[in-house]
Amino acid sequence: MRMVEIIEKKRDNGTLTTEEIEFFVAGYAREEIPDYQAAALLMAIMLRGMDDRETRDLTLAMARSGETLDLSDVASFVVDKHSTGGVGDKVSLVVAPAVAACGLPVGKMSGRGLGFSGGTLDKLESIPGFRVDLSVPEFKAQLAEVGLVLSGQSANLAPADGKLYALRDVTGTVPGLPLIVGSIMSKKLAAGADAIVLDVKVGSGAFMRTLEDARALAEAMVRIGEEVGRRVTARISDMNQPLGRTVGNALEVREAIETLHGGGPADFREHCLVIGAEMLLLGGRADDLKAARVQVEEAIASGRAWEKFRQLIGAQGGELRYVDEPERLPTAELITEVRAEEVGYLARVQTDAVGMAVVALGGGREQKGDPIDHAVGLVMHVEVGDEVEVGTPLFTVHANDIDRREEAVARVRAALSFSSEPVDRLPLFYNRIT
Ligand code: URA
Repeated sequence: MRMVEIIEKKRDNGTLTTEEIEFFVAGYAREEIPDYQAAALLMAIMLRGMDDRETRDLTLAMARSGETLDLSDVASFVVDKHSTGGVGDKVSLVVAPAVAACGLPVGKMSGRGLGFSGGTLDKLESIPGFRVDLSVPEFKAQLAEVGLVLSGQSANLAPADGKLYALRDVTGTVPGLPLIVGSIMSKKLAAGADAIVLDVKVGSGAFMRTLEDARALAEAMVRIGEEVGRRVTARISDMNQPLGRTVGNALEVREAIETLHGGGPADFREHCLVIGAEMLLLGGRADDLKAARVQVEEAIASGRAWEKFRQLIGAQGGELRYVDEPERLPTAELITEVRAEEVGYLARVQTDAVGMAVVALGGGREQKGDPIDHAVGLVMHVEVGDEVEVGTPLFTVHANDIDRREEAVARVRAALSFSSEPVDRLPLFYNRIT
């Protein structure tokens, strides 16, 4: 089989066979296929799409590129969650410990930042010492001991996703539906959870811009999960403005810590309660969503969720003094508040541009393997529907470089549109797909 023929076939709108897809995935994971050919095929898939059979083959080939975990010897039922990618989305940092604190083991394989969207692994690495590259025995031992793991792809676990993810991030090939399905579901299948809650984002800060596309993505992932015997629920949630107030790695960890202590912004807290309740319901720990939500609320209010978070950080090598005193986390040198120059109502946030402002500050990657500045980011002070006067604080930029700060200020200012008429607030959630 020749890689160039596979690229040409997809370029010309052909349907790839199971063998061709396996040849590509396994060859790329073994580093026998170069980045330039893989990038060309990714772009062809992005533009031409894949049918259901090709998407399933891609997902299964990616899941099988490493080991697939059998967790039954360490936990009788394990739940996982995954977001399709958003801006300010730090939900995993709160719901994973809250659900684990309710007694349901959470074994989660997370991702890094992708395009304008942040990644849980990059956020967690703001905590000095925290390790995301757990081996299979380490993953299982921690799940048995702590009931909670937040790990990344590794040489053993879904290595094809690790490599393809980094390549997609820098080749304009992130938003292709089959590529997102393959990436997310391969990680979920390799990590061995019995049940998976998917938070499918829609809007200007998501890879899916319309409800129709988000529904298609959610349905494709639910279908694949069920075909391989996993319980899956998807919630479609709004991403037309950042979730919570902060965007940027250490800033988001601080906001998650505040929320685990019972504070945090109302929209973010509510989002965590809904996703946490879905995880408990799917894991059979409650009879309905209302009862499940009460359990998550109690886990946070009692401090058990916070204690579980500390156990997680300690178990994966993170230095606890940084989470006990979050002001020790990486902090930027240049902190600049930007104020409104006109009167009106915040009508729209071009949320991907807000995410790209954080990438421009150094909080994400422009090239494969770029280091990340964990300290930089933004704090938003307004949300859609808020009325502003001249001088109302709009957002604060945390930067470590003057030119980058100026670029971020300009990008975020341009991302905010105001109306002279009152504007409705945005919903948090749309559909639920089971
Ligand atoms: N999250 C992932 O893990 N992969 C994607 O492609 C998008 C979001």
